Parts: sequence; C-alpha cells; structure tokens
Amino acid sequence: MHIESYQEMARLVRTYLKPEHSLRILDVGSYDVNGAYRPLFDRPGWRYEGADIAPGPNVDVVLDDPYRWPLADNSYDLVISGQAFEHIQFFWLTWMEMVRVVKPGGLIFLLAPSTGPEHRHPVDCWRFYQDGIHALGEYAGVRVLEATTRRDNPWGDTIGVFRKPAPWQPPRSLPALRRSLTQRLRRLGRRLMSAWRPPPPPTAPQHPMAPWILHHQALLFAPEAPVRWMGVPLLKNALDCWIYQEILWEVKPQVVVELGSRTGGSALFFCHMLDLLGGDGIVVSVDFDRTLFQVEHPRLRLVTGDCAEAAVQAQVAALCQGQRTLVVHDADHRREAVLRDLRAYSDLVSAGSYFIVEDGIMDQVDLSDVPRVPGPLPAILAFLAERNDFVPDASRERYGLSYNPSGFLRRIRPQKDEAAGQ
Ligand SMILES: C[S@@+](CC[C@H](N)C(=O)[O-])C[C@H]1O[C@@H](n2cnc3c(N)ncnc32)[C@H](O)[C@@H]1O
Repeated sequence: MHIESYQEMARLVRTYLKPEHSLRILDVGSYDVNGAYRPLFDRPGWRYEGADIAPGPNVDVVLDDPYRWPLADNSYDLVISGQAFEHIQFFWLTWMEMVRVVKPGGLIFLLAPSTGPEHRHPVDCWRFYQDGIHALGEYAGVRVLEATTRRDNPWGDTIGVFRKPAPWQPPRSLPALRRSLTQRLRRLGRRLMSAWRPPPPPTAPQHPMAPWILHHQALLFAPEAPVRWMGVPLLKNALDCWIYQEILWEVKPQVVVELGSRTGGSALFFCHMLDLLGGDGIVVSVDFDRTLFQVEHPRLRLVTGDCAEAAVQAQVAALCQGQRTLVVHDADHRREAVLRDLRAYSDLVSAGSYFIVEDGIMDQVDLSDVPRVPGPLPAILAFLAERNDFVPDASRERYGLSYNPSGFLRRIRPQKDEAAGQ
C-alpha cells in the first residue's frame, strides 16, 4: 500500500467515524504486502477484522471463495477495501458481498486506483473513476456520500464512501443476475485463481538495494573500519548525510535535536554542518548511555537521560524555546518508542523544518538475526494518521537508497489542527 492510500483512509476515519461509537470493521483485501490499515482502527470499542483470499499477515478471515463469504448478513458497521478492487476479476460480485455484510445504516469506504503502473497480485484488471463509484452505488442500491479522485500521486486513487439504507433491498433483478453470472464466471475464475500464490512477506530480498544495505550494515559495525565522521564512528548511511546537508542548508536551524547519540559521530557531523552554515546554532544530543560517547564541540549540548522522561523532554524544550528547530530521531527504534517520541518532540519542530525519523529501513530489510519487531515505519504511519501538520517529503529519498523511508517529515503548519483529532 502506498502512503497516500493510508493517509486517505485516515481522512475518511476522521471525517465519517465517531471514536465514541463501538464499531465492527471488516477490511476486504487486508493481506499486509507493504503496510495495513489496521493501526487506524486500533481504538477502544473498535474491532477490526482483516479478510483476504490467502492466509498471511493481517488476515483474520480467509475467503476461500472471493464471491461468497462465510459471513452473516448485516453484521459489520463499516466495511473497507483499499488497493484491492483492481485485482478482483469480478469485483461487482465482491462489491455485493460487501453491501450484504454491512449493517443497514452502515458505511463502506472504497479506495482503488484510477491510474498507475500494472502490478499483478496475481492479476491487475481494473482502474476506477468517480462515475464508477456512482455506478456501484446504483447497482447495489446504496447511497453515495463521496466520490473523489486524487490527482496528486502516481496512483490517482478514486475514493468512494457509501451508506447502506435502512431498510435495504437488493435491486430486484440482482439475485437472478448474480446466480447466472456467478455460475459462468466462477468456472473461469477458478482456473485463474488456482494460479494464485500469496506474495512473499516483505523480507530482505524484496528491497531492490538489499544486498548493498546488508553490506553497508556490516560496515557500520565493523570494528576495524566502521563508518566514520572525522574519525568518530556513526551509524548513518552516507547518502542520507548528504541529504541532511541539503536540508540543513535550506532550513538553517538554530537547534538540531538528536535523540540517540551513541559514540557522538553524528552529533559531531551536525556540529560541523552548523559550523559551515555560520551563526550560533547548537546541537542538543540526548542519550541515557554515555559509555561510548567520545566527542566535544563548542556547539554541543548534552542531555543525559531517557528521552521518554518528562524531565528530559523539558530540558530539551527549554534549549529549543523560540529557536528554529529540527529533530532527528535515532534512539529506540521499536514502534511504540518511536511513536511516543514523535508525539513528545514533534511540537519542537518549526514550520518548514523537519522531524527526521531514522531507520525505517529495518521494516523493509531484515538487518539482523534477532527476531524482527515493528519499527519506525508503522510508527510514522500511525503518527501521520493523527496529524495533518506533517507530510513525508519523498524528494529526500530520491537517490533510492535512504535508511529513512517515509521518514523525512516536513512540518507544513505551525499548529496541530484540532479537527485532526488532537
Ligand atoms: C542508533 S544509536 C545512535 C546512533 C547515532 N545517532 C549515530 O548516528 O551514530 C541509538 C542510541 O540511542 C540510545 N537510546 C535508546 N533508547 C533511548 C532512550 N529511550 N532515551 C535516550 N537514549 C536512548 C542508545 O543508548 C544508543 O546510544
């Protein structure tokens, strides 16, 4: 799933759902190929169920027959489907199942591309436009609340929001039509679907640069020749450092906050960048462990403690007070910790500046032999669903080899928008 699809689903959640209502939610085509909508529905009183035609990550219900589901009529408050309909050969049959299982008065959110490259999972049959949303509404006798097409990304997603009327009657001719279509098409469908194999989970070989990343990862920690800045080891991808230089030149921050110092190579790098820019800029580097730390610089301010602690956050905030600030997160990379730090430190970031969340690459490439846990990437997605004052700046990943996928978060407004659920 591309990030714009996730953001659009987040907008629908904000616009059409009330957090205080309890909801049972079905996600049709939920297999987690590269992200899932589940975090958007992770609220008390909401129950999310992922359905797909193959078992795998983020799948709770396996639909052996994609056109006849083992689910009761009128049983969900909300049925969603994103980036799936283009892959469903006879999508109108799936559509009728979606309408059947949603409760009268319930909602359906549908996202599907109007353009974009062919991507066969295992087939790529369709593209959708606003007229198609109205056609689906008419076909199933449901009300269309919204039909839009986004033109600002390569997939041009079309978005449909529907409400099932109460009471609901399937259009008169549908059952017969459906029976004959189902019989004829199922034979054809079986032949094609028997070739279906679930896509492999997103492991190391899937990333086009995985071999280079694994090679570089070994160098980062190589005792004889680690990656260094002015002789001090640092855990950074050199191409990202070049991008940091570009951002620092454009933003000209007065304070760079670094969460996670380790040896201090990256803190020294930021100090030297500020030297080149001139001015009185400082680098605030936070870590709870100073055993490896080895640098000194007049611009450096060390804050020693856990960045989750209120006292540490207050100390950092005091150093940033009234200053144009940029934050780099390179501390605990587990999802919960990154999300916690995004929430705690994002308000320090000035409009036009960045919160750079490092190492989302670990969610795309298996970097170690310890079991993988969700890392920065799902934290970024969850944060972006809460906030509309930050956007990921994809131009910073243009070399195609960043350790920070979707991690260059540019602040586009000085204030959080209260309407976004803050
Ligand atoms: C990946 S290293 C930082 C690397 C450094 N920025 C560089 O590029 O060379 C992560 C550091 O974060 C620190 N750290 C992890 N969790 C932390 C927390 N909750 N508070 C403060 N520091 C933390 C660790 O002690 C470790 O030194």
